Amino acid sequence: MFNGKSILLGVSGGIAAYKAAELARSFIREGAGVQVVMTAGAQRFITPLTLQVLSEQPVATDLFDPGLESQIGHIQMARAAHLVVVAPATANVLAKAAAGLADDYLTTVLLATTAPVLFCPAMNTRMLEHPATRRSLETLRQLGYSVLEPDAGQLACGEEGAGRLPDPPVILEAACRLLTPPSLQGRRFLVSAGPTWEPLDPVRFITNPSSGKMGFALARMAARRGAEVTLVSGPSSLASPTGISTVRVRTALDMEQAVLEHARNMDAIIMTAAVGDYRPAHAASQKIKKSSDTMTIPLIRNPDILASLGKSRPHGVRQVLVGFAAETEHLIENAREKLIQKNLDFIVANNLGESGSGFGVDTNRVKIIDPTGAIEELPMLTKDEVAARILDRVESILS
Ligand code: PMT
Repeated sequence: MFNGKSILLGVSGGIAAYKAAELARSFIREGAGVQVVMTAGAQRFITPLTLQVLSEQPVATDLFDPGLESQIGHIQMARAAHLVVVAPATANVLAKAAAGLADDYLTTVLLATTAPVLFCPAMNTRMLEHPATRRSLETLRQLGYSVLEPDAGQLACGEEGAGRLPDPPVILEAACRLLTPPSLQGRRFLVSAGPTWEPLDPVRFITNPSSGKMGFALARMAARRGAEVTLVSGPSSLASPTGISTVRVRTALDMEQAVLEHARNMDAIIMTAAVGDYRPAHAASQKIKKSSDTMTIPLIRNPDILASLGKSRPHGVRQVLVGFAAETEHLIENAREKLIQKNLDFIVANNLGESGSGFGVDTNRVKIIDPTGAIEELPMLTKDEVAARILDRVESILS
């Protein structure tokens, strides 16, 4: 996510300061270099030594440190950063930054940097809701800073409410969005993901091993590029990605309804969902009991959501329609047939027989086929990388 990027991590003095250690590690794990700056308050909660060891760099704490400041270190740090993340950001730091005060290392760097800045407020709910804090946040947004809304839940002070520092993956995702060129700004994307559950009775259903990873990766990567994304997901254990409107469904019929409801104004629709082709003709209202040695369950066809999108493509506007084809044999022939039948701009053919590819894993190896018959073979990539390649193609069609 952050290969070659320098992140300046500002830590201010709230109880969530201890989470800065995990955050610094997460940035480093994703390829970033991390320079930590701590306020005096932060050092009462976590030692600079901890963050120095984790970030492998001296931590800046004192604006008048003769060692660090012999080269006017705060200006150099402000210049070197590709992104500044303040986590946790206390009410005090927010107020100082909003007022343009520069009375310690962190607030001085904040004034000196031209890099994007992400504030991650974390504090007691009442402090967060105080009009003075609200005003600070509003001012910061007007000044062009980004603010990540805190999570709600049980706070360290024992109260319930908004004010928790979001977990590192959420902060990393918000940070990554700030560093990604917004090439899909103003575009609307609909992505479907995951399996469907076709019920036999209240406790059993027919499904498949789709985890949702491929679709969630596409939704996340499109949002990173600035698109407004709606994700329609069948049952998946993956958490709803931040900043993406996620509609959870169970059956193919639910998915059809959700997709068709949102499809109209979309610039692009990408169907990665493994939609059940058939459903039991009748779902029993109570758990089916064992009776005979064999059992026959009549199935009926589910609607083909992608085919109906392909049939009713909007006139006069360019809507890009992308399908996936999960196959165990005759990959190219079967995928081509679906591409034509469903009237798609291109199809992503997925060989389920290949290890490291398809259901459940974090990687995928696909072939992209377009209506001219041209085939682009991608190597084994992470699902994020596959998503990026698919989005590059969608972008070039849209432009
Ligand atoms: O979720 P993961 O674990 O990350 O796995 C990813 C994946 C293997 C599910 C994904 O990469 C993939 O290949 N998705 C397509 C699965 C599939 O159902 O393919 P299909 O060949 O049966 O369907 C062709 C296309 O029509 C698909 O875009 C599908 O969403 C769509 N379809 C299918 C049936 C149906 N009733 N309605 C549909 O819209």
